[in-house]
Parts: sequence; structure tokens; C-alpha cells
Amino acid sequence: MFSSRLTSKLKEAASVVAFTGAGMSAESGVPTFRGEDGIWKKFKPEELASFDAFIRNPEVVWEWYKYRKQLLLSVQPNPGHFALAEMEKIFPQFTVITQNIDNLHRRAGSGTVYELHGNIERNYCIGCGMKYSNEEIPSLDRAPRCAQCSGLIRPDVVWFGELLPVEEWNASVAAAERADIFFSIGTSAVVYPAASLPVSAKHAGAYVVEINIEPTELSHQMDEVLLGKSGDLLPRLVDVLKHSLVR
Ligand code: OAD
Repeated sequence: MFSSRLTSKLKEAASVVAFTGAGMSAESGVPTFRGEDGIWKKFKPEELASFDAFIRNPEVVWEWYKYRKQLLLSVQPNPGHFALAEMEKIFPQFTVITQNIDNLHRRAGSGTVYELHGNIERNYCIGCGMKYSNEEIPSLDRAPRCAQCSGLIRPDVVWFGELLPVEEWNASVAAAERADIFFSIGTSAVVYPAASLPVSAKHAGAYVVEINIEPTELSHQMDEVLLGKSGDLLPRLVDVLKHSLVR
């Protein structure tokens, strides 16, 4: 199932990174962005996921996030998420870098998680910066306003045209550059700068492995491509790690 090259790399690895995208959560029932049934096939990102759209029409943008927040309340981490949380216990250093905002890695028990595109369970006021959890924001029937300054509250996610959170980004680059093995999982790897991380890791010497149901833009740069579902392949990888590798 897994190459002997990969198993021997795994045996020696001290520092491992899992870089994840929407495909990681597909088996939890969270829709991906691209592909046949992708979100961006049905909706225009510039109308729902940009600061301009928010200022123009906060009600519409909040309607969209209300829908997504409710969807995410009804889903659970899948075996792929749990497998990554297990891997954190096996390797001396294990980092999850995710483009997902769904909080499923943390809910599955992963401890070191850098969220490059934010987290849908957090919100903040665009006027004074006050932070709000989902439970703390007033009713989502209208775009919510800050209790302190009446400014508009927005979800703490990265929209198109916005910069990534600096600390998470710097920590992610550092993790990619020190990785012995770098997994790129369930991402089409077309949204930059996040998609530059697998290549940075490879240039810095990591063994780079892609897990996806189909080839991506970056497949040709990978040392190894594992075609299949992350919810299937990752638990099997953990089995191999637990049973055949005596560390
Ligand atoms: P995409 O929707 O672009 O890509 C999802 C990838 O997951 C595809 O390559 C699928 O083939 C793969 N996939 C689907 N199901 C899978 C499964 N069960 N196991 C393994 N792979 C599977 O999502 P992202 O690459 O995450 O940004 O998109 C990147 C960014 O674009 C998102 O973070 C979001 C979006 O616009 C922002 O909102 C800023």
C-alpha cells in the first residue's frame, strides 16, 4: 500500500507537517470549493468572500456565513482528522497547517494547528477589533453590531485580497522549512501564498507527499502521490506507523 521509501522516511522523521485543504473535510460533509459540486461553481467569491462585498452588503455576506456556521455545527471530524491527531503523538514534532476555517482539526484533538485562512468560530469588530465567539455575537438575523462601538462584526476569516495572519504564516513557513516529511492533503494547491508551502518544504529538503483523490497542479513536484481519500489513507498510514515501525 505505502512505498518502502515512504515507510523508511517515516521511521526516521523527527518533524512532520500536514498541510490540509477542503478535501480533508469532504468526508465530514463539508463541500469543497472547486470541482463539479464546488462552492465556487454556485457562488461568486467576490460577492461573498471579500471586504468590498461585506461593506456593500453586510446582510448578504452574513446570510452566507450564517448558513456555513450552521452547516459546520452539524458536522463531525472524520477518520482523517483523527488520524492526524494520532500522528501528533507519534512524531517528536508534528504540525497541522490548514486552509480550512471549519475548526475540525482542533475538534479532532490536534494541538499544533496553524489556520492560514482563519476560523469560522471566531469573529471581530471592524471598528474596534473586539473579539466575539459565535455564542457571543447578537442574533444573526441581521448583520451583528459591536456592543462596545456599534461597528460591524465580521467573521475572523481571510477574504480574497486580504493578507494571511502574519504569525500563522511565519510559523507555517518555518515548519515547512524544517519538515522531514511534508504531506499536502486534500488541496487543489491553487490559492497562494498557501500553495507555495509544499514547494518551500521540498526546496528545504523535505520528502513531499500528496494525498488527494485526483492529481493537482503540484503533483509533478511531489516525491510521491497517494491517490485516494484522506479519510481512508491517513488511518491506514497511522496503522503502519503503530504496528510496523518500532521507534
Ligand atoms: P479546493 O476545493 O480547491 O480543493 C479541494 C481538493 O480536495 C481537490 O483537489 C479535491 O480533488 C480534493 N479532495 C476532495 N475530496 C477529497 C478526499 N476525500 N480526500 C482527499 N482529497 C479530496 O479546496 P482548497 O484547496 O482547500 O480560500 O482551496 C483553497 C482555498 O480556496 C480555500 O481555503 C478557500 C478557497 O477559496 C479562502 O476562502 C481564502
